[in-house]
Amino acid sequence: MIRIDNICRTYGSGETQVKALSNISLTIEENEFVAVMGTSGSGKSTLMSILGCLDTPTSGEYLLSGESVKDIDDIALSKIRNTKIGFIFQSFHLLPRLTALHNVILPLRYTDVPQEEAEQRGMEMLEKVGLASRSHHKPNEMSGGQRQRVAIARALVNYPKVIFADEPTGNLDSKTSVDIMNLLTDLHSQGQTIVMVTHEEDIAAYALRTIRMQDGVVIEDKLCTKQ
Ligand SMILES: Nc1ncnc2c1ncn2[C@@H]1O[C@H](COP(=O)(O)OP(=O)(O)OP(=O)(O)O)[C@@H](O)[C@H]1O
Ligand SMILES: [Mg+2]
Repeated sequence: MIRIDNICRTYGSGETQVKALSNISLTIEENEFVAVMGTSGSGKSTLMSILGCLDTPTSGEYLLSGESVKDIDDIALSKIRNTKIGFIFQSFHLLPRLTALHNVILPLRYTDVPQEEAEQRGMEMLEKVGLASRSHHKPNEMSGGQRQRVAIARALVNYPKVIFADEPTGNLDSKTSVDIMNLLTDLHSQGQTIVMVTHEEDIAAYALRTIRMQDGVVIEDKLCTKQ
């Protein structure tokens, strides 16, 4: 479903140039659950930005469900983002003035889904993450774990092919982290493809494959054995 070939990403130029990714090639199949690990600065977020079409590589090829993400303009890129990809971030990225429901349906604003259907779908997603009763609450009236669940509902509202999560439990205590990982595990067992960055081994253990990065290259790519 995802295929990248010889991806490089360089920031800046001249003496201050940083090579964040060097010749990364990998494939991710439908319904995989992948953890990306590595020390700070190893290129994890850069890789996620490229896979999530938030950024384009300096060189290399990227195919997302058969479509080449090369030489396409920002409008086409945002269309791919809007229809195929869901995002979850460490700091939730919710809009403080909007209710949970309105945060969830935000990605549908620039699509042709009518408002009523959008709200119906939004409620369905809030139900899925166990927050239907909080649909009219604003982010500051919710706990960290609840905020992240709203963000997960928002990531799901487009029925994305793949969800990218950059340290989804990075701002949560360990008990809440387990709740969020159980939710992601449920979504995976329902067929969702998930790629997640984490620093923590016990969080990575929920995934079925671990990719380890160091200095912009993949140093290990391993399937986990689980019973
Ligand atoms: N916008 C930018 N401009 C210049 N350099 C950048 C930029 N973003 C990232 N870098 C550099 O690219 C390298 C990879 O950064 P990246 O954010 O991908 O690392 P990371 O693995 O996500 O780290 P962390 O675990 O701290 O989040 C680092 O050396 C970083 O300083
Ligand atoms: Mg990062």
